[in-house]
Amino acid sequence: MIGFFDRLSRPLLRALDPEDAHALAIKALRFVPLAKPPPDAAEFGVQALGLKFPNPVGLAAGFDKNAQVPDALLRLGFGFVEVGTITPRAQAGNPKPRLFRLEADQGVINRLGFNNDGAAVVHARLAVRQNAGGIVGVNIGANRDSVDRTEDYVRLIETFAAVASYFTVNVSSPNTPGLRDLQQAGALDDLLARVLDARERNRFRAGVTPVLLKIAPDVTLSDLDDIVGIARKRRVDGMIVGNTTISRPGALRERERAREQGGLSGRPLFKLSTRMLAETFVRAEGAFPLVGAGGIDSGATAIAKIKAGATLVQLYTGMVYHGIGVVNEIKADLTAALKRGYRTSLTSMVGNDAATITAESWPG
Ligand SMILES: Cc1cc2nc3c(=O)[nH]c(=O)nc-3n(C[C@H](O)[C@H](O)[C@H](O)COP(=O)(O)O)c2cc1C
Repeated sequence: MIGFFDRLSRPLLRALDPEDAHALAIKALRFVPLAKPPPDAAEFGVQALGLKFPNPVGLAAGFDKNAQVPDALLRLGFGFVEVGTITPRAQAGNPKPRLFRLEADQGVINRLGFNNDGAAVVHARLAVRQNAGGIVGVNIGANRDSVDRTEDYVRLIETFAAVASYFTVNVSSPNTPGLRDLQQAGALDDLLARVLDARERNRFRAGVTPVLLKIAPDVTLSDLDDIVGIARKRRVDGMIVGNTTISRPGALRERERAREQGGLSGRPLFKLSTRMLAETFVRAEGAFPLVGAGGIDSGATAIAKIKAGATLVQLYTGMVYHGIGVVNEIKADLTAALKRGYRTSLTSMVGNDAATITAESWPG
């Protein structure tokens, strides 16, 4: 069924305006019945963040911003789904057009700007499926016009603690002016202190919900020293490396499109994000697990992330170019790779290449 739906939908979706295609994909996932997938092989299981992931391949934030279809996405075979980014109040985001495909590069540029239905509506959706099982993380951010952005994150922790499998504190979207300043040492330390405090206050009611920090691949290495130092000091549960990049790699073929403002994702982001992941891994020294995101579209790219330091991986843009079947293709590749290497789990590969990668010349 997934294969049929996938083959039918791909050329159709690619012919549409990217934002219309996305809306249609969400609609299809809401209404096309998907059978429960067969259980994942035991060697795919990952124990991390106090959770048991059936497999390490997750759907990154931004696809299901409003938690409309988390269960359908889990049925596609993802090991976990991250909804959001959600802000306290609903907001429309930036004017259209704001989403662009760089077909020749298999990349996407977006400047959506946290368009979302707001906390109350999204919370109601998640509350309905609260006991459905599956790992559904909630990615949180600040309203564009908020006067106290840190307070926005605190409110969202309070709102979602009971329905989120984990939280992602998103301080790395390039499309809300000034948001990434929250990655600066002083602001980040204060933000994490208050967020973790809110988590503690809700512990009795909601249990200890893991909190991940999602960073931009564009931070300098000296900023990264500070960020990882603060994340360790504040005892966050993990980091996601990372968000889209505002840089434009020299090898891009779609030069004209590449001039659009916004965050670049997909294949052209792979090298930079994998380097930043390895840089984060060597600084984290095993204090917490990392989630690798940026340009994953195959088993090989997923394994490269794991070897660079990722315990879990996430993708979004890979699904735009390879269809909703991509997660199952990746899992088939991972099974083959495990067999070839005579390994019984992916966990034994985590970070194996991190030292080598950080010694290479900087990706251009
Ligand atoms: C259209 C689009 C919207 C996105 N929206 C969000 C978002 O709301 N919050 C967030 O943390 N990341 C967002 N992202 C970033 C992805 O979660 C991911 O970190 C990034 O795209 C790199 O992964 P990829 O190359 O597999 O797409 C978005 C990405 C795309 C392409």
